[in-house]
Amino acid sequence: MRMRPVLAVASECAPLVKTGGLADVVGALPQAMAAQGWGIRTLIPGYPAVLAALSGARVVQEFPALLGQPARLLAARHGALDLLVLDAPALYARDGSPYLTPAGRDWPDNDLRFAALCRAGALIARDGIGKGKSRWRPEVVHLHDWQAALVPVYMRALGAGQPCILTIHNIAFHGLTAHTRLAALDLPEAEFTLDGFEYYGHISALKAGIAGARALSTVSPTYAQELTRPEFGMGLEGVIRARTSALHGILNGIDTGVWNPATDPAITPYTTPPGKAANKRALRTEFGLATRGAAARGPLCIVVARMSDQKGLDLLLDALPALTRRGGQLAMLGSGDRKLENAWLQAARDNPGAVGVRIGYDEGLAHRMFAGGDAVLVPSRFEPCGLTQLYGLRYGTLPVVARTGGLADTVIHANAAALAAGVATGITHRPDDAPALEFALAQLCALHDDRRLYTRLQRNAMKHPVGWEASAPRYAALYTRLADQPEPPR
Ligand code: ADP
Ligand code: GLC
Repeated sequence: MRMRPVLAVASECAPLVKTGGLADVVGALPQAMAAQGWGIRTLIPGYPAVLAALSGARVVQEFPALLGQPARLLAARHGALDLLVLDAPALYARDGSPYLTPAGRDWPDNDLRFAALCRAGALIARDGIGKGKSRWRPEVVHLHDWQAALVPVYMRALGAGQPCILTIHNIAFHGLTAHTRLAALDLPEAEFTLDGFEYYGHISALKAGIAGARALSTVSPTYAQELTRPEFGMGLEGVIRARTSALHGILNGIDTGVWNPATDPAITPYTTPPGKAANKRALRTEFGLATRGAAARGPLCIVVARMSDQKGLDLLLDALPALTRRGGQLAMLGSGDRKLENAWLQAARDNPGAVGVRIGYDEGLAHRMFAGGDAVLVPSRFEPCGLTQLYGLRYGTLPVVARTGGLADTVIHANAAALAAGVATGITHRPDDAPALEFALAQLCALHDDRRLYTRLQRNAMKHPVGWEASAPRYAALYTRLADQPEPPR
């Protein structure tokens, strides 16, 4: 089958570089879209970890001065990924997180680092890769978050006419920089306007993408609606509202090959809820949690999350007694905000045998936690999609989630009607509300006391579709519409 060409542009791509769910989606979408006849090549920055992981990379283009920086473009395959890697040592040859200094602050030149990525994306869209008959040139350009959102501006300036789609994974991050940076970033002064990328006197990369991309998408239908409201739009709700006809809410999937309890090499594999028992024993030991008696009679809950205000982990601290007093336990893996890290380490000291905390990033441990847990807690204040509740469903680890964004779209609350109909898969509660979370934890403990009922819910959860089978055709329909229809007048 001839693949129709798409260029994706992103700052992260699993398994090469990941700080959150963005990387998983950017890493999984190409394989899902290949089955729909769309061949995605993914442009990412050449961070040291990316360059180290490449084998057989070829130089396909030189950029002597990309926004003033010497750079070259490498092409390589990595598993199912067809990568284009922007090798620009002055911008990306830095250790640690893609965005932060070792002291945990944004790199001061992040605007330039990701503007250069966008500039390269626009040049690839215009000129393609290779020569003659074998030249590859995208029909559609798919941008992810603010780091890729300046592409439409550069494409216009360079005369590249393909349609762009911008996927908003999290509107909390705008990519703001001072307007004095216009020249350094080679951005047109004429578009520094209310209708362009000006935002309260600053340059907003995300706004440039929202205004300039032909189509917008976000990662769940509920978040698509929430984005138009001030509580969630983070100051861009008006700009989004002006483009609602172009906005699509398409739910994320997960890589069901990597997240498969029947074959997961990190765990004792299982196909039914009772098969979780060995993993649960191992997890308790690993986190130093009680294994018998009243202290272990409740559900073993897990959390795997970035420790940021978004995730509501401060609310969970307040609600914790509602779990521990009923013999429930909590194993937490995360890192981020220092204050939250310390508060959780203190909670572990205050609740020996009931609460265990690991600060850090550990993919293998995350797998062991989903296999061993009875429930995964996701008390987010907002959550564009969320992936950990999807892993929870797949592993029979019942999600207890705030009713917001993709969490609301993926978990069926165990109310009386859903229980009677046999379709419940978890528990939902009002977001940003510690008493509501306490109530949800109490309900979890009550459900868990009824072993047969709990196992039935776990079976429901494990049957819930969480892959890309529903969403890949929706992206494909969008790509097709964009590629085949001329731009409608705005
Ligand atoms: P977000 O992108 O907002 O962080 P998601 O739920 O979409 O939230 O994705 C988070 C991803 O990062 C999941 O794959 C989750 O398992 C992973 N993750 C987050 N923190 C850790 C950690 N400390 N160790 C291992 N994996 C983590
Ligand atoms: C963002 C969101 C998260 C979403 C992920 C992938 O990081 O916070 O909810 O699942 O992107 O789209």
